Amino acid sequence: MFFQGVNSGTVWKAAESGSQTDFESFRRIAQTAERGLFAAFFLGEGLRLREHLGRPHALDVAGRPDAQTMLAALASVMSHIGLVATQNTTYNDPADLAHRLSTLDLLSGGRAAWNVVTTDNAWTGANFRRGGYLDHADRYVHAEAFVDTAKRIWDAWDDDAIAASGTAEDWLAPGSVRRVRHEGQHYSIDVVPKLPRSAQYRPVLFQAGDSPDGRDFAARQADVIFSAHPKFEAALDFRRDIVARSLKAGRGANDVQIMPASEFILAATPQEARDKKAWVRSLQIGPQQALAYLEQFWGRELQSYDPDGPLPDIDPVVEETSETRGSGFHGAKARQLADQWRAEAKEKGFSIRQFVSSKTSRVDATFNGSYTEVADRLVDYARTGAVDGFNISPWLVPAGLDDIVNHLVPELQERGIYPTEYAGTTLRENLGLATPVRSDAGVTGNVGAGAGHA
Ligand SMILES: Cc1cc2nc3c(=O)[nH]c(=O)nc-3n(C[C@H](O)[C@H](O)[C@H](O)COP(=O)(O)O)c2cc1C
Repeated sequence: MFFQGVNSGTVWKAAESGSQTDFESFRRIAQTAERGLFAAFFLGEGLRLREHLGRPHALDVAGRPDAQTMLAALASVMSHIGLVATQNTTYNDPADLAHRLSTLDLLSGGRAAWNVVTTDNAWTGANFRRGGYLDHADRYVHAEAFVDTAKRIWDAWDDDAIAASGTAEDWLAPGSVRRVRHEGQHYSIDVVPKLPRSAQYRPVLFQAGDSPDGRDFAARQADVIFSAHPKFEAALDFRRDIVARSLKAGRGANDVQIMPASEFILAATPQEARDKKAWVRSLQIGPQQALAYLEQFWGRELQSYDPDGPLPDIDPVVEETSETRGSGFHGAKARQLADQWRAEAKEKGFSIRQFVSSKTSRVDATFNGSYTEVADRLVDYARTGAVDGFNISPWLVPAGLDDIVNHLVPELQERGIYPTEYAGTTLRENLGLATPVRSDAGVTGNVGAGAGHA
């Protein structure tokens, strides 16, 4: 379950909506997910509030609490669900992040995971000390060294490193903790790791990033990919691609699990489900959201346009754009795009709101239908191995998982494609992942007296 926070996919203004920052919203929906035997509770990361026409973008991640702090609090009130923190490799530092993730893993009894991202833009870094830091290819080179280093840090303690006796000299068995050194292009560290291994040995690694470099990186390093390909054929193609890349990387064909982003809009009957979807969309893409979406591409204020009328006849700003247009723009040619969209909207008879609804990435990610229909569709995903699960973004928080857990999960259990209990207590066990082999590569020294591993 992916708690997205503020964005155009979650409806925060309905009467039954919670607050995007209150712990209660997180606790209630995570507890529903755990009641439904969900493997993991997932938090994204947005380090810098996106801007829009030079102002903070009110529909972005405004009010998104820090993932690790939130997950640490959740760990204390949940007993089985995995806790996934999205954290980027571009602006963090490996020893520090590895240590914080170890802490979450230890305090949750082996339920932590790290969703490794590199971030999709350069301007996030202006929040820190490195605006515009690293181009795309370099970010993955850096990410690889970062993750390798983190794994060595997590693997640095022998399982029996903490001596049984409580006398001060005995806290660490001699030679049982290895020093980790890395000297590379972007950072050099020399660290004596501070924490033992957790109940699941080390945090599970998720990855989200879809370029060829990103996929190869996942094939080498990840346990799970948070993918952007939920549609059946696209999911199968993505699976084939990841199997090929995994084999090329020297891993097993199915060593990397795949869980695409998805949204579920369900009801008791097909007709009710269709009506509900129309209603949910009208809440998700309100007048403000619809105009703000187009403004990202037009590069100018469009507030005087009627959201239920045709697309703006005014032309977009065509000069070189900046990040203030938001990440939706992706460098497309503004004028060309506007002409194309106007023609498309006219042909389909779409208003601004209807057009924007048809363009959001959620369109492909939505499972809409009766509980029975959707359960039958999911059987195909499970039986063909297209996916290992889904990362579900509820459109309503905190009640948005209720119908999934109350009605869809039992249907999936009846079809034999959903667990009926948690397999174990750690996330690694609940995902059915193998215990990682200790990464000794590159260990350059040991700490403590006596002979150790070199
Ligand atoms: C499904 C999905 C979810 C993502 N979630 C986040 C996120 O929460 N925070 C973030 O900084 N980047 C996120 N990313 C973007 C990654 O940071 C990735 O680095 C970016 O897409 C650029 O890599 P790529 O070119 O390989 O896709 C996500 C990407 C995908 C595909």
